[in-house]
Amino acid sequence: MRKPFSERMDRMTAINAHSMTDTYELANGVKIPVIGFGTWQSSPEDAYQSVKWALDAGYRHIDTAATYDNEQAVGRAIRDAGVPRDQLFVTTKLWNEQRNSYDDVLRAFQDSLTRLGLDYIDLYLIHWPEPAAHHQDWQHLNAETWRAMEHIFHLGKARAIGVSNFLPKHLKALAKTAKTAPMVNQIFLNPYSPQPDVVQYNRDHGMLNEAYSPLGTGELLKSETVAAVAKKHGKSPAQVLIRWSLEQGFLPLPKSVHQDYIKANADVFDFELDADDHQQLAAMAGKGRQRQDPTTFDFSKPIPFLH
Ligand SMILES: NC(=O)c1ccc[n+]([C@@H]2O[C@H](COP(=O)([O-])OP(=O)(O)OC[C@H]3O[C@@H](n4cnc5c(N)ncnc54)[C@H](OP(=O)(O)O)[C@@H]3O)[C@@H](O)[C@H]2O)c1
Repeated sequence: MRKPFSERMDRMTAINAHSMTDTYELANGVKIPVIGFGTWQSSPEDAYQSVKWALDAGYRHIDTAATYDNEQAVGRAIRDAGVPRDQLFVTTKLWNEQRNSYDDVLRAFQDSLTRLGLDYIDLYLIHWPEPAAHHQDWQHLNAETWRAMEHIFHLGKARAIGVSNFLPKHLKALAKTAKTAPMVNQIFLNPYSPQPDVVQYNRDHGMLNEAYSPLGTGELLKSETVAAVAKKHGKSPAQVLIRWSLEQGFLPLPKSVHQDYIKANADVFDFELDADDHQQLAAMAGKGRQRQDPTTFDFSKPIPFLH
């Protein structure tokens, strides 16, 4: 008999991952490469160049979003790199203002496909659970959005569907009408913000935890604790943070626009963190930047940690 999803996922930690082409298995059986390449805040020029470098370095999983304004460049890089489509995993996300109705979602999805120049997406995510204009009726909005996502999934236009920045309260509300459960929840996850409550909820409900900002958008690279662990293993702080994420059973999405960092961030399969390292990194919880609260997060203002 097939083992329950949470058990299968717990087994598939970094201990079993030996390369960038190793995969986690989503609840519907779709395989997803264990490290994804981030593109938030990459200009179209940087996104094009960095995705090409990433594909050269062996990444096979690219994470973008409609709101990053670089889907076209990402699509061009994918085509120019010449990696066969069935060996690639491409994620994009539905933005807040593009899902006021069921039909809006179908349109936004088609627009993303067109910009990317693809005829299907591997993973399509709802980017945030509570757009500002819908603070009063986010439950209804999410139910309608999800109905459209399920339609896209059943057409085979997205091989998997999921959410991002959802808390258990948003997932519980969604479960009241969803016919297909989300397969992924992409959240802010790193040693400062390990979010054990959300992680466990996701696992218990068949969702893979994708770790965005695995380096804390750079903030964690300044940590003395991370530097000490890195020194002990002869690795860099970024490599320790990516390795930590894998050893938690998360799927990290490191971003860089520098070729040497992109290559180095993929070189995380030749060492293991020990119990003492994990203890040191666990003690960092709550000390640095934490997740944005989806209920109060104001997208119209500059994000506080990015001056
Ligand atoms: N779903 C969501 O709401 C959401 C939100 C945020 C992020 N994400 C996804 O997660 C991805 C990663 O998160 P993030 O962009 O916040 O940042 P991150 O990956 O945590 O950190 C990126 C920062 O670290 C630097 N860096 C990367 N590798 C390095 C290395 N080896 N040595 C030194 N510095 C290094 C990068 O510099 P350079 O770029 O200058 O090289 C950049 O400043 C995003 O790009 C996006 O795809 C999703």
